[in-house]
Amino acid sequence: MNSVIIRPATADDVPAVIRIATEHDLGGKSPERVRAEGFLVSAYPAALYLRLLKHLSVATVDGEVAAFTLTFPSDEVPPEVTDGERIVSVIGNSPYFLIKQVGVAIKQQKTGLARAMYQKHLAGLQVPAFAPIVLAPANRNIVSIAFHEKMGFRQVETLKDAQGQDVSGLWCKQPVPA
Ligand SMILES: CC(C)(COP(=O)(O)OP(=O)(O)OC[C@H]1O[C@@H](n2cnc3c(N)ncnc32)[C@H](O)[C@@H]1OP(=O)(O)O)[C@@H](O)C(=O)NCCC(=O)NCCS
Repeated sequence: MNSVIIRPATADDVPAVIRIATEHDLGGKSPERVRAEGFLVSAYPAALYLRLLKHLSVATVDGEVAAFTLTFPSDEVPPEVTDGERIVSVIGNSPYFLIKQVGVAIKQQKTGLARAMYQKHLAGLQVPAFAPIVLAPANRNIVSIAFHEKMGFRQVETLKDAQGQDVSGLWCKQPVPA
């Protein structure tokens, strides 16, 4: 039986996080794979993951890093992460939790890893959780939308470009009363 552990990342996990993020680089995927696997556009270089280490979590399967999340409470969102202003446009200056990145190794997708990581992050959370999802017509992240809606997130905002085309959306999950 596979043993899954979800824990804060260490510096030693960063190369594996980058491997997973690179598997989901949009440039490396055919449209068919984008539709089946989803994608990440905001993967960071190692130095930035190391600087943000306390916000990085991993799920290991039999000791191997198979998934990661990068998350922030609203008062710790760094300047590199620009979703804060959009979230304020939705909820004002209330506290929130941002799930900036989630990635699961391709061979471990659809085995419940992202669900398990989200359940851990969301358990007991007293503030709304937000996740930005790319919606550009050519690259709508339908896998991420399906996953987040399965987890109880609902779309609350749409960012459009100058031509009125959707660029990205914010999905939100309200805290579940205890
Ligand atoms: C999106 C992603 C994180 C989901 O991770 P995962 O571990 O495969 O998801 P889980 O196995 O925990 O699935 C949880 C639920 O989400 C839904 N889901 C997951 N992948 C899905 C897919 N490809 N199509 C439809 N629904 C899907 C499932 O219905 C599942 O519920 P079920 O078990 O009741 O069927 C993963 O596909 C991924 O890393 N994609 C590439 C990176 C990415 O798109 N990140 C999000 C950027 S905004």
